[in-house]
Amino acid sequence: MHKKHSNLLLKTAAIFGMIGAGIGGHMAGSYDYAFRAAHAHILVVGWLSLFSWAVYYRVFKPVSKKLATAHVYTAIIGTIGLTSGMIMDIFSVPQPFYFIVYIGGGVTLLVSFILFALLAFMKHED
Ligand code: HEM
Ligand code: HEM
Repeated sequence: MHKKHSNLLLKTAAIFGMIGAGIGGHMAGSYDYAFRAAHAHILVVGWLSLFSWAVYYRVFKPVSKKLATAHVYTAIIGTIGLTSGMIMDIFSVPQPFYFIVYIGGGVTLLVSFILFALLAFMKHED
């Protein structure tokens, strides 16, 4: 179960890493920093945080499997929503739609961090 979570987080982090670094290269080459916030979050949340959690599920085995599953999926969905929302903002996607994705993603990501904090203070297998 935890191995499956770890592998999913690892692959998602790798994809975010490629996209984020690619956007960084584009910004550096074009001197256009419109993507700065999206680039930063794709990398610090999508790459660094998801990768950290991939390692967490290898090192620690939280006893609560349901909470772990909720944490993993809110992390991935939240990161996709938040960063897609930041990109939609640049392309002026119509307000109601982008607001739902952006705010929905941000709130989901926040929930994921709260679930992780709960897991951190709960029991782990020896
Ligand atoms: C291919 C490699 C990368 C390139 C070419 C690149 C390029 C850039 C550029 C051009 C900016 C905008 C700087 C500015 O506003 O003056 C930026 C900002 C930023 N980058 Fe990257 N980046 C790369 C990799 C990374 C990685 C690996 C991370 C984190 C894991 C990262 C995190 C950030 C953050 C947090 C900002 C925002 C900094 C701020 O607003 O002060 N970048 N990057
Ligand atoms: C909970 C969801 C989050 C929301 C809604 C959010 C939103 C924002 C916003 C609106 C900015 C300002 C961007 C700008 O200057 O245009 C920002 C900056 C930043 N956030 Fe977040 N953030 C979230 C989570 C995170 C997390 C989890 C991290 C780190 C792991 C993070 C790291 C950063 C960094 C490094 C900057 C500065 C980058 C820049 O100058 O563009 N954020 N965030």
